[in-house]
Amino acid sequence: MNIPSTTLNNGVEMPLLGLGVNTPRQNNEVQSSIEWALEAGCRLIDTAAAYGNEREVADAIRSSGIPRSDIFITTKVWNEDQGYNRTIRAFNRSLERLGIDVVDLYLIHWPIKEHRHDTWRALEKIYSQGKARAIGVSNHYPAHLDELLTKAQVIPAVNQIELSPYSYLPDILAYHRQKNIQTEGYAPLVRGQKQNDPRLVELAEKHGKSTYQVLIRWSLQHGVVTIPKSVKRERIQENFDVLDFVLSEEDMALLDTFYDNTRIADDPRNIP
Ligand SMILES: NC(=O)c1ccc[n+]([C@@H]2O[C@H](COP(=O)([O-])OP(=O)(O)OC[C@H]3O[C@@H](n4cnc5c(N)ncnc54)[C@H](OP(=O)(O)O)[C@@H]3O)[C@@H](O)[C@H]2O)c1
Repeated sequence: MNIPSTTLNNGVEMPLLGLGVNTPRQNNEVQSSIEWALEAGCRLIDTAAAYGNEREVADAIRSSGIPRSDIFITTKVWNEDQGYNRTIRAFNRSLERLGIDVVDLYLIHWPIKEHRHDTWRALEKIYSQGKARAIGVSNHYPAHLDELLTKAQVIPAVNQIELSPYSYLPDILAYHRQKNIQTEGYAPLVRGQKQNDPRLVELAEKHGKSTYQVLIRWSLQHGVVTIPKSVKRERIQENFDVLDFVLSEEDMALLDTFYDNTRIADDPRNIP
C-alpha cells in the first residue's frame, strides 16, 4: 500500500499518514506498534524527547529491516530544553538516542515566549548543518508564528497542532497555506472521545467504515498530515486501511461543522 505524501516548502516529501507513539514504554508497546504499523505500510513515526521512547523507536526501525531512508522520523525539543544552547544539546541527545545522523523533521514542541527566537535560531543552525531535513513547530497558532517570523531566516516547514473536526479552525489552516507551512494534525481520533457521536456514526455506517477511519480520512482530505496513535495490531491495521473510500464534499462540509473545541491538550490560544 502506498500512502500519499506531501511536498514540504523545502522540497522534502513527507507521508500524509503516520503513527504517533506518545505511549508509555511498558510491555514493548512502542516496538510492537511500530512493527505493526510498518507492516501496514506506515513510513512516518512521530516521537518526541518528552515521550522518553526515542531508543525504542530506533530499535523498532532497526529490527524492521526497512532502510532508514524509507522512514520519516519526527522528534521534538521539550520545553525545558528551549533556548539556543540547550536546544542544540537536546537535539544531539535525541540524535544519539535515535541512533541516526540526520532526523527528517525536528519540531519545537510548544511555544515558549521567552525562548521564541533563540530556540528557532538553534533549529535553523541544525538545519543549515544538514542534521535535520526539515524543521518546524508544534502547537504554534498564528500569533506565535507571526512573532517567530519577524526574525526567522527559515520558514517552518510544518506546524503540528491538535486537529480533528472538533478542534477545526479553518483560519489556522488558511494561515498555514498562505505561509506555505504544512499542517500536521495530532490526536486526530480525539482519543476515542467522539466514537459514539451519532453524526459520526451515521457517516461511518454510510461508508461501511469505522468512526476512527472517517476521522483519519477527514484529515487526509484536508491535505493534513495525520498521526493516529494505537498500540493494538487490529486498530493500527484499521487506521491505515483508509485509502479505499472517499468522503464526499457534503460529508466533509458536515464534518467541518462539528467544532466544539474538544481538545486533549492545551489550547494554544491561551499560551502567550
Ligand atoms: N505535538 C504535541 O503536543 C502532541 C500532543 C499530543 C499528541 N501528539 C502526537 O499525536 C499522536 C496521536 O495523538 P494521541 O495519541 O494523543 O491521540 P489519538 O491518536 O487521537 O488517539 C489515540 C487513542 O485512541 C485509541 N485508538 C486508536 N485507534 C483506534 C481505533 N481504530 N479504534 C479504537 N480506539 C483507537 C488508542 O488506544 P490504543 O493505543 O489502546 O489502541 C488511544 O487511546 C501522539 O501519539 C503523538 O505522537 C502530539
